[in-house]
Amino acid sequence: MHNAPSPASLDPHLAINGGPKAVTAPPPQNWLHGPQEIGDEEIEAVTKVLRSKNLFRFMRDRSLSSVSQFEDLFAEKTGARYVLAVNSGTSALIAGLVGIGVSQGDEVLVPAYTYIATAAAVLALGAFPVIVEIDASLTMDPDDLEKKITPRTRGIIPVHMRGTPCDMGRICEVAARHGIPILEDCAQANGAEFRGKAVGTFGDAGEFSLQHFKIITAGEGGIVVTNRKEVFDRAAIYHDSAFAFWMEGRQESEAAAQDWRKICFLGENYRQSELHGAVALEQLKKRDRILSRTRAIKRKLWSALETLPGVTMEAVNDRDGDCGISIAFFAETSEAAVALSKTLHAEGLPCGTYFSKQIPNRHIFYHWDYIMEKRTPHLNGFPWNAPERPCSVGYHKEMCPQTLDLLGRVIMMPVTQTMSDEYVDQLCCAIEKVAHA
Ligand SMILES: Cc1ncc(COP(=O)(O)O)c(C=O)c1O
Repeated sequence: MHNAPSPASLDPHLAINGGPKAVTAPPPQNWLHGPQEIGDEEIEAVTKVLRSKNLFRFMRDRSLSSVSQFEDLFAEKTGARYVLAVNSGTSALIAGLVGIGVSQGDEVLVPAYTYIATAAAVLALGAFPVIVEIDASLTMDPDDLEKKITPRTRGIIPVHMRGTPCDMGRICEVAARHGIPILEDCAQANGAEFRGKAVGTFGDAGEFSLQHFKIITAGEGGIVVTNRKEVFDRAAIYHDSAFAFWMEGRQESEAAAQDWRKICFLGENYRQSELHGAVALEQLKKRDRILSRTRAIKRKLWSALETLPGVTMEAVNDRDGDCGISIAFFAETSEAAVALSKTLHAEGLPCGTYFSKQIPNRHIFYHWDYIMEKRTPHLNGFPWNAPERPCSVGYHKEMCPQTLDLLGRVIMMPVTQTMSDEYVDQLCCAIEKVAHA
């Protein structure tokens, strides 16, 4: 226990003007979520797999496979009927797009604020990403989404950035009205919910990442979830070029095996190894504990930040379902954001502004250079200039002004589960000190 400091006991002189820094408690040594939790459970699980000398999921009975156990627990936690573990979030996106039937020349709507992999996955299938504005929730703007739909739109990828859920009510309504399937990108939102339901289960499919920076991690890894059997089958077939072979061996009859042989098509190799599955399983068991702490911390810091004059908080679509791993708030202008961020930072707050034309942040469309410049690995320029379905989508750096305005005046602050009570209380006091100054 510690005694919570009171703002009245602090020297009111701002640190940026030479006064004492309000935050003196040590910050967490590590800001990442999953990696901090790696302990004996993960070590023992990996050791068990290594001792078995079998790292391949399909070479063991399903009940003994770590990857399968992970899939089963993930299905239980999300309520998704079908779960497929793969080797990255990007491969989960590509397999998910195959699952929902996206093909060459189709248009797929992606938000202007997401990791570049979301748009790259669309291009990997020869389809075209169409960039949609974000709103003050920093997720896809449902109004702009509707404006960007054309007769060639075949998919929508809402991205639950920074653990905060998109407005899945409105997005699903627009998608249903136009008959367009949804693949939710939940790479950064493992455990988030919208109105009490897990993200990833609103659309036709969902994707998660288990990469090092995510809420839970296996180093690398990804997950596809869906409630639709045909979506799952298509994604699973694409995730393994020999999928029919493994499935045939698991069928009860020769007729059922034949069916698999008939439906399988070309695939790649997105399989998850037993080593990754073992780590992912142990991490998943720890996920809800991580989130209950980050959510509690975010609630506390949010209440303090709301008192800052001239500040508007992010418009979170569901505050209970938000993972609580990051807080965003807006100043009135980008200049005011820089000044406020510097003032808070000087007091010891771990915050900063976000968009700069100079710093190539690949989470902002402005810095998606190879998409803006239409560069792909194909020497003939595919898919941009494919004669039968040429690209009708144009790109330029100022094409989403609403997004650039929001990201230009936002201040962000990370939240991690190992922030001590003392540190969090001091952060709140520091915010109040700045609010009163
Ligand atoms: C929003 C988003 N989508 C997709 C990805 C891709 O995941 P991965 O790095 O596991 O391929 C990431 C991760 O970095 C991400 O943040």
